[in-house]
Amino acid sequence: MTDVASERRYLGRDDVNSVESILADDEIDFGDAVHTTAARGDAIFTWDYDRTREGLGKLYEKAKTSQWNGATDLDWDTPVDPEKVALEMAPAAAMVQQRMADVPGSPVKSWGPKEWSEFQVEALNWRMSQFLHGEQGALICTAKIVETTPWIDAKYYAASQVVDEARHVEVFSRYLDTKLDGHYPVNPALQLLIDDIIGDPRWDMTYMGMQIMVEGLALAAFGFMHSVTEEPLLKKLLRYVMADEARHVAFGVLSLQEYYAGLDAKELRERQEFTFEAALRMRDRLMMHSVWEKVGVDRRTVTEFLLGMRTMANNPFQAALFSKIVPNCKKLGLLDAGDGWLRDRFTEIGVIQFEDATDTGEEYESLDEVAKDRAAAS
Ligand SMILES: [Fe+2]
Ligand SMILES: [Fe+2]
Repeated sequence: MTDVASERRYLGRDDVNSVESILADDEIDFGDAVHTTAARGDAIFTWDYDRTREGLGKLYEKAKTSQWNGATDLDWDTPVDPEKVALEMAPAAAMVQQRMADVPGSPVKSWGPKEWSEFQVEALNWRMSQFLHGEQGALICTAKIVETTPWIDAKYYAASQVVDEARHVEVFSRYLDTKLDGHYPVNPALQLLIDDIIGDPRWDMTYMGMQIMVEGLALAAFGFMHSVTEEPLLKKLLRYVMADEARHVAFGVLSLQEYYAGLDAKELRERQEFTFEAALRMRDRLMMHSVWEKVGVDRRTVTEFLLGMRTMANNPFQAALFSKIVPNCKKLGLLDAGDGWLRDRFTEIGVIQFEDATDTGEEYESLDEVAKDRAAAS
């Protein structure tokens, strides 16, 4: 184990699929008002102000013209019925619900529409709360990237992303406060992953963890919610946030592509292992324990049950998550670096078929909803 790995609280533990450790994470105190975690890595000043990275320069220009105002570009007077919004997610979840009910000993076997509806309302509050906390993680990670990246073009771009992430925290917080009726604390698996990313002194790991992994997951989750909701305020909010997020993933891909081309086999293998483990943990450990308990299912039962489902073939959550992560890993050269270790792992868990799915690195142009709306308005 390297020094970095031994300092991690989360990644590098050999408990990836352990029910006991998932339950133990629930006991971690992340504070009522504040949570502090050690940030590591040198703040780098560069005296090379030449703008040599064309791709990053183009992205920075795009970021400047595609800014939007969370207070005025969204219609906050829109009335919202939280139950209606929650139930919009239900048809898409019906297949999962059926599969859950079919498993022998399933805790949801006897659930009818009333129980599922109660669950969906709480699940919406939980999801939006995790979006909010994840956005704050992105805000802090991007501020760290401004300090730690050695390239002036990347500092410029990352600074624009800090503004984007502040806006995302602002709009999710406002939606939760004024349109929904319940907040949840951060999921421990999400916060532990973010803490490890912030604690890693290697500047590229902040990119890898946040821009590629967490933002890949966020894009998949926002995309799902955007495709099912008819609530106009939430739909526009997500459409605009996704336009920003696509640029953020592109920033990660462009920067890491260049940096990884210069790393040796051992360094690349460390990145491959980090990626695979972080992805598996997001797949297996993001559970809504407090939601399940609220609707009468204890956390041990649901943890054992969900862990079994997550590793089943054709798990839709796994498909959504990896459909963004696998193509980006391919583009970074991580899939086949060395002896193709990462390709073998993705093949084993049945997600290698996503390697040529839409590449988020190029998606940002087509996802610029802010520019489209402005063109339509003029
Ligand atoms: Fe964001
Ligand atoms: Fe982002």
